[in-house]
Order: sequence, then C-alpha cells, then structure tokens
Amino acid sequence: MTTNTNKRVYVETYGCQMNVADTEIVLSVLDKEGFSPTEQIEGADLILLNTCSIRDNAEQRIHHRLANIAHHKKRKPELVVGLLGCMAERMRKDLLTEESIVDIVVGPDQYRLLPELVSEAQYGERGLAVKLSRVETYDDITPLRTEGISAWISVMRGCDKFCTFCVVPFTRGRERSRSLLSIVDEVKYLSDHGFREVTLLGQNVNSYRWEERDFADLLAASAAVDPMMRIRYTTSHPQDMSDKLIETMVEWENICDYIHLPVQSGSNRVLELMNRTYTVEHYLERIDKIRELIPGVALSTDIIAGFPTETEEDHQKTLQVMCEVRYDGAYMFKYSPRERTKAWAMGDSVPEKVKTRRLQEIIEQQNRISLEKNTEQVGKTSEVLVEGPSKRDPAEWKGRTRENHTVIFPKGDVDVGEYIHVNIGRATSATLFGSQVDETGKPKVIPLELAIR
Ligand code: SAH
Ligand code: SF4
Ligand code: F3S
Repeated sequence: MTTNTNKRVYVETYGCQMNVADTEIVLSVLDKEGFSPTEQIEGADLILLNTCSIRDNAEQRIHHRLANIAHHKKRKPELVVGLLGCMAERMRKDLLTEESIVDIVVGPDQYRLLPELVSEAQYGERGLAVKLSRVETYDDITPLRTEGISAWISVMRGCDKFCTFCVVPFTRGRERSRSLLSIVDEVKYLSDHGFREVTLLGQNVNSYRWEERDFADLLAASAAVDPMMRIRYTTSHPQDMSDKLIETMVEWENICDYIHLPVQSGSNRVLELMNRTYTVEHYLERIDKIRELIPGVALSTDIIAGFPTETEEDHQKTLQVMCEVRYDGAYMFKYSPRERTKAWAMGDSVPEKVKTRRLQEIIEQQNRISLEKNTEQVGKTSEVLVEGPSKRDPAEWKGRTRENHTVIFPKGDVDVGEYIHVNIGRATSATLFGSQVDETGKPKVIPLELAIR
C-alpha cells in the first residue's frame, strides 16, 4: 500500500473510553505502515484528533485545538492533519472547507482505510471516509496499547437505544458484538503480558449478544481466564441489568463490585421524553436487587440537568433519586441540543441560567453524598491494586479498590500491579488516603531504609 517508514504520528483522544480504545486500534493499523507514536507534536508527520460530539462544548474544544494546530501546518506544509471519531462522523465534509487545515476525515468504522488516506493526503489529496458499518468490530486487530496494568477491550460497538438527547446512534451506528472467543483470547493475551485489570467496553455493554451468549456469559468467560485479573465493565443500561448479570458478579470474586448505571433523570415524565425505556421505580428496584446480592457495591451514574420542558418539580425528583440511591460518584451534565436527535425538535426550553443553577445543585448534593460515603470507609481495610506514583508526590502512590475508589498511600516496598491491603485513615469527596497493612489489618513493617525519605 504505502511506503512510509519511520514516520511519527501524534494523537490526541477526546470523549469516552470507546475513543481511547479506538485510538489503540488506529495506532495498530498505522504501526504496520511504519508510523510510530510520539508524545511530541513538534516533529510529527501526522497529527490525529480522535474527537467527541456528545455535547456542543466537546466540539468547540476541537475547533479551538485546530486553530492552534494551524501554525504547525504553516511551518510544515507536508504535515497531514486528520480528524477521527464522532465529530468526523457527524460533520463529514463540513470539516473539509477551503480554509480548514484538516486533510482527512475518518469515521469510527473506517480506520482500516487510514494508511491509504494518509498516503494520498501526503500527495495533496484530501480524504473523507465516514461510512458506518453493520459488521465492523476490528475483531482481528490487536490494539497497540501503552504499557500499564489496565487495559480496555471493546466488546461491542454502536447503540440502538436512541435516547432522544443522544448523538451516539448517529455517530457510532448500529449495535454489533465481537465474538466471545476473540474477547476471551484477548483477556488471555493481556494476562500473559502482565496486565492486572480489564474493562469490557460498550456504549450499551449489557446488551452484548454473540450467538447464544449474553453479556453475563461473556463476563463469566472473561473472569475465568485468570483469578488475579480484575474484570470491570461499562456502560450498562438499566433496562438490560438482568438478575443473571448481577448473580454472575457475585459468583466471580475477580469481577469488581462496581456498576456505572446512568439514571439521567429522576422524573418518569422526563425519562419517557428521553426514551430511556424504564421508570424510576424499575431503576430503584434494580438498585435494590444489586445491593441485596452485592452488599458493598459501589454505584455511579450520569445525570442531565435541563432537558427540554424539565420543570422545577422534575428537577427535585432527580435530586430525590440521587438521595435515595446515594451514589458513590456521578457524571453530571447540562443538556446540550444535538442536531438530528429527536430532542432537537423539542427545542432548548430551559433557560441557560436555570440549567446552570440546577446543575450546580446536583453537583453540590453529589459532592456531599460522595464525602459522606467516602468517610464511611475510614477505619476499614480494602484490597488495592497498585497503579503507580500519585500526581502530587512521587513518594505517595495510588491504586484502586475493587469498588473503584482511588486510594493514596505511602509507597513502602510495593510495586505496580501488586495487590495490597490498605487501611483507610481519611477521605475527601474524591479520594481515600490510607496506609498499608497485612491481611489481618496490622500495619506492615516497612524496611527502615524505605521508611526514611
Ligand atoms: N452509553 C452510555 C453513555 C453515553 S454518553 C449510556 O447510555 O449511559 C455519556 C453521558 O453523556 C450520557 O449518559 C448522558 O448523561 C450524557 N449525554 C449524552 N447526550 C447528552 C446531551 N445531548 N446533553 C447533555 N448530556 C448528554
Ligand atoms: Fe446514547 Fe442512550 Fe445509546 Fe447511551 S444508551 S449511547 S445515552 S442512545
Ligand atoms: Fe463522545 Fe462518541 Fe464517545 S460522541 S462520548 S466519543 S461515543
């Protein structure tokens, strides 16, 4: 195909974990064509932005970034700039205007074409590849992962739910699952290469289906590979949160006790307008079942403030459902109208000021709950998977509990990828702090030379 050798590609990834996983596929495709990844934008021969369209501000960021990258292109006209991901899929040829510095626009199902498109762009030919596929899963491509202990595995692509606010079904296309065996093989490969944690990814992961197998079967098959490998998954839809799935989590020790289960709103009227296909009652019943079977489980959610026609009463119901569930964490957003979605036609009826105030109330309440819940952990001992130095202080290390809480502790003699026990001494709304103990809860004796720093 192309004759590129020793070329350097610089990628920035925006949006959700699906994009993070896709970037690893893109790097793998380009690696075969002689492109090696670089962290330095200066000197790159190819700059790629893997973009997100979920809210307007995600797209604005990209426009700003492109304006910024323009001066690199001015200095080095042979530089190729590519836009990948959801914004590429949504805006298509609108991104290739005369004044635009973008050379290639490639949607999420067309990354196999990248080498060809890049090669043509090097000869001045602009390229557009945005066809969505009913079958593309990149099943046979081994992602080019950066070293670490945690890996993402895309197990399904696309979404068929068509929540009325959401652009994903338009940017990612129809739902399709990878074969169960290929996923299990990938877990085996990762286990053999020192990875300690795998997160199974999909926009709607619990509607995974491969022949007669459902998501619970996939989870069990993945967990069976290596008892020392932690298994996580995201994102689940409340409608597909089956008893079988919860029971599978109980059955396998290494499936982590953490579920991200977006509720979006606490008002049935709004949920119906959103086409979320469940009621608050169904949602709370699922939460009860999860807590009954997995008592220490951690739960997080997504919330949208200011969906069209949302009243003060609807908003209060959202605050109420958050109080009832008492989430460990939440991702909270202001509603942003997206073209082509059904909600687009409903208008953007909640004034900006009201949206801002409602979002603020939601955030403040969640912070309070997170702090209360984290404070409940003080005095308890948790199993922590060691990830490495914390950002603030290299002598302080960080890791995560099975419930996905971040824990900071003095390094001592531990190494990345080890499982240790940490006794929690204090908490903020975002982080737990503790010190290493042995399995019985006694402080670990740290060798003197390591204790002095
Ligand atoms: N597939 C996942 C997540 C999709 S995107 C799910 O179904 O939950 C992540 C979150 O972004 C959504 O859960 C929703 O809370 C938020 N979101 C999606 N579209 C949005 C929009 N138009 N405005 C504001 N928030 C939005
Ligand atoms: Fe979007 Fe709904 Fe699909 Fe999630 S389930 S990706 S919110 S359409
Ligand atoms: Fe954004 Fe696309 Fe993910 S819109 S959230 S990058 S699926």
